[in-house]
Amino acid sequence: MRHIPEQRPLIAPSLLSCDFSRIAEEVRAIEEAGADLLHVDVMDGHFVPNITIGPLIVDAINRHAHTPLDVHLMITDPDRYLSDFRKAGADILTVHWEACPHLHRTVQAIHDLDADAGVSINPSTPVALLKDILDDIELVLIMSVNPGFGGQRFIPQALEKVNELRLLANERGLTDLRIEVDGGVTRDNSKALQQAGADILVSGSAIFRSGDYAEYIRALRA
Ligand code: DX5
Ligand code: ZN
Repeated sequence: MRHIPEQRPLIAPSLLSCDFSRIAEEVRAIEEAGADLLHVDVMDGHFVPNITIGPLIVDAINRHAHTPLDVHLMITDPDRYLSDFRKAGADILTVHWEACPHLHRTVQAIHDLDADAGVSINPSTPVALLKDILDDIELVLIMSVNPGFGGQRFIPQALEKVNELRLLANERGLTDLRIEVDGGVTRDNSKALQQAGADILVSGSAIFRSGDYAEYIRALRA
């Protein structure tokens, strides 16, 4: 497993907005530009309306990657595919709270595969529902758009949720828990997100449409 860097914030470009016909070049370019993690969006056309990529393409990305793969599973019944995505190179496996009736078991299965476990919540899912799983996971992914597509507008309520989760994590002494935010993250809201307590910023369309990946990643950190 690749090591997840300690420093904060980490920038995780979402490859969903890259040019998949040039995936090797895009991976090289985004890593050279300063990406800390590569965020990979897996969608199944059931949990979310869109269909994206499966283990085969994650494996192709992995062959060119040096930074850890942060695999965001927007799929129903993720348990069936955890091992496939781990074999394909996922270092972090994030499942959706809404897709996992036996979340504790799913998290255990991720740990048994020797990967870091993340749990994501949709915009309408309250932070409080994570209370009984927080001690067992490495990462919470707060969705700041409804999952399914890149290029959507940031839902400002996500800021409050990050703040609430940071307070909850502090109360519990969970200093290692990473808080990641995904959807509509740009240079205009990255500072507020960090101030609210976000450790990992996912950004897709803003980075890949910027024309200068390195400059944009620097701006997100600032
Ligand atoms: C949305 C995905 C995101 C998406 C982010 O369902 O989970 O990772 O690629 O893209 P932007 O930054 O364009 O909102
Ligand atoms: Zn994502």
